[in-house]
Amino acid sequence: MIQNVRGTKDILPEESFAWRYLEDKIQSIVRMYGYGELRTPIFEKTEVFSRGIGEVSDIVNKEMYTFTDRSDNSLTLRPEMTAALVRSAIQNKLVYGNHVERLWYYGPFFRYERPQKGRQRMFHQFGIECLGSSNPESDGEVIVLSDHLLKELGINDYTLVINTIGDADCRNRFAFDLKNYLQSHLNELSEDSQYRFEKNPLRILDSKSPQDQKILGNAPKISDYLNENSKSKYTEIKNILDSVGIYYKEDHTLVRGLDYYSDIVFEFKSDALGAQDSFGGGGRYDHLFEQLGGTPIPAVGFAIGVERLLLIMDANNLIPKDPGPDFFVILSDPEESEYRSKIASILRGRGYCVVTDLQRKSFKAQFKDSNRINATYSVILGPEEIAENFISVKRMADGEQFVLKLNEISTFDF
Ligand code: HAM
Repeated sequence: MIQNVRGTKDILPEESFAWRYLEDKIQSIVRMYGYGELRTPIFEKTEVFSRGIGEVSDIVNKEMYTFTDRSDNSLTLRPEMTAALVRSAIQNKLVYGNHVERLWYYGPFFRYERPQKGRQRMFHQFGIECLGSSNPESDGEVIVLSDHLLKELGINDYTLVINTIGDADCRNRFAFDLKNYLQSHLNELSEDSQYRFEKNPLRILDSKSPQDQKILGNAPKISDYLNENSKSKYTEIKNILDSVGIYYKEDHTLVRGLDYYSDIVFEFKSDALGAQDSFGGGGRYDHLFEQLGGTPIPAVGFAIGVERLLLIMDANNLIPKDPGPDFFVILSDPEESEYRSKIASILRGRGYCVVTDLQRKSFKAQFKDSNRINATYSVILGPEEIAENFISVKRMADGEQFVLKLNEISTFDF
């Protein structure tokens, strides 16, 4: 038997109801905030991500699905959307003049990671990006929208963690001192971090090695390097969150693993997830447009992992059950299937979901099927109903039965 690729999953019909439910909620929330949908190709030129996310990040260094096509182009299955979206925004001139562009996206992403609960090699993200404003109101809007979605889904047991990593000036001064400090511990650092030391010492802050983390315990802290501008922006964002009653925790060690961030960064965490406790994250990225060859445009955004969100919803019983079809039409004599088609067509004409037997099963077996698929009503077409042009309807929840003449079906209040 040929199996699916490790780290990928089939989403089966009984699961897709939950996906649809979530997708509908997402669409209704983004509409409330005036965001438009952007769909970009699943693969891009590799440089979009290597230049955008950073050569030394784990994503670019270890996790990308990169391949050479038949024309020798290096292409990569998108590991995230922000860099691809900025590529598209530059190319399609989506932001011009004094204009703000609000965009959302939803779709599959690919990272070669070790699969475990909540971590796959093909996963899905929903995200938003607000392009063209450097004002804290835009950071606030992005966080408020993400929080709104979680509350709309009934999720309450999560923590929003925020931090500021300062602007380029703060980070350059910090990186200089961090490098000086780490120089004296270079031989004790993990192999990965020794490599990062040369290329981009700030990425050492992401290291999961306990030894690296111990060394970092006494290292300089970015919070001591913030300039007035970064500090006051951060305070304004916190004021916005306070004003709408969004609870957050500050964590000065939160840096996030992508190079494009500056100033505010944030993550949503949940205890329902185990080791992969972070299920969404984002931040400001005011220099990504330039890094990808565009004119400077300030921007902020966030993305949430759909699989992780569904795990949290499932753990909290927040996924409604598929209600099943409205009607299952049971026919006693397969020769009379035209009568059944007529009834099904009248009901579908009213917008109802109607399922019928395709296997010419016995009357009893059809009743069983109607129960199994959880139909709200069974429509019974026995010899009498067919001969006298009426239908019997049984409400499955309480067994109540009634009859309707043909001309009553199109108006009856079920
Ligand atoms: P990220 O933190 O790399 O950020 O990913 C966002 C979310 O995607 C994670 O919190 C997680 O829920 C989900 N995710 C990531 N990798 C996996 C995986 N292997 N399996 C399952 N879920 C996963 C970004 O991607 C940024 N582009 C977010 C952003 C948007 N920043 C600004 N705008």
